[in-house]
Amino acid sequence: MLGVNDLSGKRFLDVGSGSGLSSLVARKMGAEVFSFDYDEQSVECTKYLKQKYFKDDMLWSIEQGSALNEDYMKTLREFDIVYSWCVLHHTGDMIKALANVDSNVKKDGTLCIAIYNNQGNRSKI
Ligand SMILES: C[S@@+](CC[C@H](N)C(=O)[O-])C[C@H]1O[C@@H](n2cnc3c(N)ncnc32)[C@H](O)[C@@H]1O
Repeated sequence: MLGVNDLSGKRFLDVGSGSGLSSLVARKMGAEVFSFDYDEQSVECTKYLKQKYFKDDMLWSIEQGSALNEDYMKTLREFDIVYSWCVLHHTGDMIKALANVDSNVKKDGTLCIAIYNNQGNRSKI
């Protein structure tokens, strides 16, 4: 989706990192990565991957936080790539979450998201 094989020198924000796999790939591609998730167990899972593959690495930070928390999002600096895969529609306020993550994209940066299609009644359920 990004159309690149190398993220060296890029700052990459993984919003709702979940397992941490996307963060791991971004770090392997050379990016400086910041991962956060609302869910503590997801944070722990991301930390586990870092411990396993990038132990003591200074270019990958992981913490608990919410994309809906405007104050928290403001404390994060701007990123070349803000990536949020299948997360924003799970927050309870997708429009607010989208506005928040958008403010973390630096000028000429990239916002890369995946959200589910509205499937009518199935989505409501
Ligand atoms: C379907 S999983 C996707 C995880 C990961 N992005 C991936 O592609 O594997 C959705 C994730 O969104 C996280 N999440 C839900 N609400 C959130 C919020 N307000 N802020 C940050 N993460 C949130 C969940 O904890 C969960 O890890």
